[in-house]
Amino acid sequence: MSEYRSGLGWDVHRTAVGRPLLLGGVAIAAEFGLDGHSDADVLAHAITDAILGACALGDIGMHFPDTDPRWKGADSLKLLRHAVELAAAQGFTLVNIDSTVILERPKLKDYRLRIRESLAECVGLPVECISVKFKTAEKVGPVGEGRSAEAQAIALMQRG
Ligand code: C5P
Ligand code: MG
Repeated sequence: MSEYRSGLGWDVHRTAVGRPLLLGGVAIAAEFGLDGHSDADVLAHAITDAILGACALGDIGMHFPDTDPRWKGADSLKLLRHAVELAAAQGFTLVNIDSTVILERPKLKDYRLRIRESLAECVGLPVECISVKFKTAEKVGPVGEGRSAEAQAIALMQRG
């Protein structure tokens, strides 16, 4: 009989001029990007935590500390792939991912399919099993004022 586990992930990064804006490994055209020790892919980080969370394997900072020079500028899809492999070592396979990116601008909907395809390839699931949604913060708070971007994700894992 199959065992199912769900896991929740959340992340935030400050916006910064002169930095890339990467979401799920896809470069978004914008006059600013996201600051961080790694490549600051806020969506990949939230999904990585959702997968680790489903398997009770700790969190992203435990596996990839931001004080470790090995992860400076790291490709976050590699961290995500590593989380999938850690889960597989416990016998868990991914069923689906749902996610939301909260960013005031630019409009992201035209990137949706590309981001889903990039994530699907990374985690080894069909694109139909990867959902990516976008929201503004209605100009309110740090995200709404354009000072940061957030992402939320949930992952369902199956064992057996
Ligand atoms: O935040 P709000 O409800 O106004 O977003 C409306 C729609 O705009 C969302 O459903 C989403 O498809 C799109 N959106 C987007 N890029 C963003 C924020 C929202 O494409 N940065
Ligand atoms: Mg992060």
